[in-house]
Amino acid sequence: MIGTGYVGLVTGTCLAEVGNDVLCLDVDARKIETLNGGGVPIHEPGLEPMIARNREAGRLRFTTDVDAAVAHGALQFIAVGTPPDEDGSADMQYVIAAARNVGERMSEYKIVVDKSTVPVGTADRVRETIAQALRARGVEHPFAVVSNPEFLKEGAAVEDFMKPDRIVVGADDERAIATMRAVYAPFQRNHERLLVMDVRSAELTKYAANAMLATRISFMNELANLADALGADIEHVRQGIGSDPRIGYHFLYPGVGYGGSCFPKDVKALQYTARQQGRPLALLDAVERVNDAQKLRLVEKIVERLGGSLAGRTFALWGLAFKPNTDDMREAPSRAIIHELVQRGARVNAYDPIAMHEAQRVLGRRNDIAYATSPMHALEGADALVVVTEWKEFRSPDFDAIRKALRQPLVFDGRNLYDPALVRAAGLEYFAIGRR
Ligand SMILES: NC(=O)c1ccc[n+]([C@@H]2O[C@H](COP(=O)([O-])OP(=O)(O)OC[C@H]3O[C@@H](n4cnc5c(N)ncnc54)[C@H](O)[C@@H]3O)[C@@H](O)[C@H]2O)c1
Repeated sequence: MIGTGYVGLVTGTCLAEVGNDVLCLDVDARKIETLNGGGVPIHEPGLEPMIARNREAGRLRFTTDVDAAVAHGALQFIAVGTPPDEDGSADMQYVIAAARNVGERMSEYKIVVDKSTVPVGTADRVRETIAQALRARGVEHPFAVVSNPEFLKEGAAVEDFMKPDRIVVGADDERAIATMRAVYAPFQRNHERLLVMDVRSAELTKYAANAMLATRISFMNELANLADALGADIEHVRQGIGSDPRIGYHFLYPGVGYGGSCFPKDVKALQYTARQQGRPLALLDAVERVNDAQKLRLVEKIVERLGGSLAGRTFALWGLAFKPNTDDMREAPSRAIIHELVQRGARVNAYDPIAMHEAQRVLGRRNDIAYATSPMHALEGADALVVVTEWKEFRSPDFDAIRKALRQPLVFDGRNLYDPALVRAAGLEYFAIGRR
């Protein structure tokens, strides 16, 4: 398993869990040191005990030794990062470096599996990179390149991997397809979930899935803003449309915009690919614009209520991670909100059940951001409560206690967590996204 981040570590661990012998490679020596010391560098429910028991059983090991990793397995999964480049395209340097490492060392048949989210055409580049390395060595070894995009959700990654909705395999090599079927058989004993297709379709499927989900979110956010203007309640509208089986309830929650390591970068990368083909995606341009604006929707409401200058104000902020059950702060809406609040002179008392350490790392230590030890502690001396991430522990708070703790009885809810009548009955002014 090449790359030991959210995807590589979960994939490697779950493959070990069903009996495979897995060696995980990373260039980040500190990460490998942590894992070899029994630690886990990321937060993912259920992952820690699974790593521990598979390490103990000797089926899961971690290394920085590239020679050992290439020698270890017939299957070489590439699960390295594909961050956005400045022009929005996916930065492929890590994928290509991983492929080159394999080509420079392999001495027998290998199946190289692209698990990272990569633009259409990457399998061809990976194939060419390996072929070039083999030519440079003057050797010939057979190999196959397979696209196997990952659909796991952070926060439920282990569960998703163990019980996938579908497994997409893009390949044209029969031997590689048979091996992939064998690898994934333990995860689909109930019924077949493996879809075999050509490589380019597999690569595009991953982007299409994330683009569709991002589109649903932006659609609802735009409608929520309209509901605000019209005096309608978006929560009623959400249920009214979600009950239609052609629409469904998933990913129709209005809020403070999507974030995380995938949607923002994958939407950008797909737009880049489309532009390169002379077929720009007008819909996705709008999805992104709507999302960028939505991240500041809550601050707009704060400014409407409290005025443009927030100097001397303090805000209790609940939730830093881009979504619940993860410590991931990449592109988290909390970052845009905090940035805008402090820019306007405010201070922020932040609380998150898991992501506080990661938040301190990415936001840096600063005087205008304090970290509270509990949700209630965050309220002390604050002018208003701002809810940014829908962690379970925020869903049913004591509204009377909130009113007593705050300097002003103001709640700005970026996730529509509460029943407006209940909050108002406690004497709080309540502002949410698209709610009456
Ligand atoms: N995070 C998600 O929820 C998710 C879901 C589906 C797909 N993906 C995709 O999977 C890929 C990985 O995402 P992630 O979130 O796990 O990234 P990550 O940044 O958490 O992890 C990537 C790891 O790869 C390592 N790495 C980089 N170059 C390497 C090399 N040459 N050899 C060995 N290791 C190397 C890095 O040190 C890092 O630990 C991305 O393409 C992403 O889009 C992510």
